[in-house]
Amino acid sequence: MTKRVAILISGGGSNMVALARSMTRDHPARPCLVVSNVPDVAGLERAEALGIPTDCVDHRQFNGDRVAFEAALQSALVEHTPDILCLAGFMRILTAEFVTQWDGRMLNIHPSLLPKYKGLNTHARAIEAGDTEAGCTVHEVTPELDDGPILGQARVPILPGDTPDTLAGRILPLEHQLYPAVLRRYAAGDRTPVHLPS
Ligand code: GAR
Repeated sequence: MTKRVAILISGGGSNMVALARSMTRDHPARPCLVVSNVPDVAGLERAEALGIPTDCVDHRQFNGDRVAFEAALQSALVEHTPDILCLAGFMRILTAEFVTQWDGRMLNIHPSLLPKYKGLNTHARAIEAGDTEAGCTVHEVTPELDDGPILGQARVPILPGDTPDTLAGRILPLEHQLYPAVLRRYAAGDRTPVHLPS
């Protein structure tokens, strides 16, 4: 049966667009909702243009009450009965309680070669460390931040003179290839990791 995918965003939503566009024809999933925790972001407009239902649960309206924010997020999600959640540039840390509700059904894309550089400023940290390669990772979400089983990675060399921006500019297009490739497998029940370039 076709899986229903909800995509969570906080900004521009380029990964969301790549995921949504991939779910056509014989793909085992379809997008059912795009939800943002930030109002008026470009990603919401882009989702609407793609004909996907959208919602916004603005975390700032909950004044730091994570439990109340997540309860609102959960009700927005369950209304659309998703089978899979894809975090795509979703910049809120989720509690263990929330994550556990979606155990084995939630993916995230992170702009580093995990387990290196969990958290923020990944490209700057890779350059500062003198690494020779960087990349991105799609993983299953578990309660610990950026830590779940790895379902795919894409790598690029770090070039002399790279800045966090130039590196991000080379990695983002790979994110757009990797995430759809992983989701396609995952939605079909296949957790074999994807490696790009193959
Ligand atoms: C992407 O690079 C994604 O990997 C990163 O945010 C960007 C979102 O771009 N995610 C994280 O840093 C999560 N910790 P997008 O909104 O254009 O997809």
